Amino acid sequence: MNKFIIAGNWKLNGNNILISNFIKKLKMFFKTHSIINTIIFIPPIVYINNIKDIIQEKNFFLGAQNVDLNLSGAFTGEISVNMIKDIGVKYVIIGHSERRILHYENNKCIAQKFKILKSKKIIPILCLGENLKEKNFNKSELICRKQIDEIITIVGKNAFQNSIIAYEPIWAIGTGQAADLKYVIKMHKFIKTYISENSNINIHDVIVQYGGSVNENNIEQFFNTNDINGVLLGNSALIYEKFTKIIKITN
Ligand code: G3P
Repeated sequence: MNKFIIAGNWKLNGNNILISNFIKKLKMFFKTHSIINTIIFIPPIVYINNIKDIIQEKNFFLGAQNVDLNLSGAFTGEISVNMIKDIGVKYVIIGHSERRILHYENNKCIAQKFKILKSKKIIPILCLGENLKEKNFNKSELICRKQIDEIITIVGKNAFQNSIIAYEPIWAIGTGQAADLKYVIKMHKFIKTYISENSNINIHDVIVQYGGSVNENNIEQFFNTNDINGVLLGNSALIYEKFTKIIKITN
């Protein structure tokens, strides 16, 4: 059985002191709680060194929020997969709706990032999902399908082996109102079925997290179903008490 994966995306939040204190407390937490599932901590890349202290903890991993699709060269402001690998990163978020919308990343560029990560054995966390208008026009599946298709076209039929998908309906992100459980399950089933039918992976090996206003009060429902393999947290990952409560409930 796959482990439940709890990933905390700090986005553009935090500072040196805040993250160091958070990690200090988390280290203590790990001393008193046994963690059987996978925890991925994804701070802004400049603070990744603050986490070094905790990296040896069992089932605890470092993630990055982005990567460039080039390996080196004249690409001011970018960070390559080799660089993040160098500092111990194991997972990278790509295709987050905030990057798709605010940084104009399209399916092709995201698929190229996916490919470069796979080639260096870093696990991509591929975010996908529809916006409210698309949902209201019954286009949720179509949008996810297009986002998946480009990955298979560019990366190939083995793309989703040892990769993570995070289904994040845009309308649920940062709103405090998570998507309805039935709806999430329906979408996860669709994503798993579609990927297994169109590439080389067994449906039971397709890993899909849910993201969008998950918190300590609604985590249990997402944890208690086989169709949801983990959660990608935003706001709830920023507050030590919330983050550890979610870890406790899922371990
Ligand atoms: O990447 C996590 C995300 O977009 C969800 O954010 O704040 O709704 O949990 P939030």
